[in-house]
Amino acid sequence: MSQPSATPVVERVDARNRYEIHVDGKRAGLTAYRDRDAQRVFYHTEIDDAFAGQGLASRLVQEALTDVRESGKRIVPVCPYVAKFLKRHEEFADLVDPVTPDVLRWLETELG
Ligand SMILES: CC(C)(COP(=O)(O)OP(=O)(O)OC[C@H]1O[C@@H](n2cnc3c(N)ncnc32)[C@H](O)[C@@H]1OP(=O)(O)O)[C@@H](O)C(=O)NCCC(=O)NCCS
Repeated sequence: MSQPSATPVVERVDARNRYEIHVDGKRAGLTAYRDRDAQRVFYHTEIDDAFAGQGLASRLVQEALTDVRESGKRIVPVCPYVAKFLKRHEEFADLVDPVTPDVLRWLETELG
């Protein structure tokens, strides 16, 4: 019988507008987005308490932003965690658009 891998796995779940990170087959956290034309607007990241402090948020966001690059989209970091991550990861600087009042108004409407 095969054992589940302890290596975290990140997947994009389009139907839920989010990327999820799974550890041993359990969902450990997510980073949520909405698409505004070519912009992928990240607005919330969370890791379950049971998995906190292991660098999972960092891994999740790294893979999500890499997927954004591969998709030819841009990043808008409304989520404070994503914003903080981007300050330490200049390799994504060319993809980042600013958080403007327009984006925030649009996001509020999107999220109801
Ligand atoms: C923030 C959160 C996603 C971090 O998850 P994690 O897997 O424990 O994070 P990592 O181990 O990858 O990284 C920890 C880093 O997150 C930072 N962090 C913790 N809370 C943060 C917050 N609210 N905003 C920005 N950064 C935060 C820590 O300062 C730490 O930074 P450091 O590496 O420079 O010391 C998690 O604590 C969480 O779900 N918090 C509740 C929801 C939340 O506040 N989300 C962020 C705003 S949407």
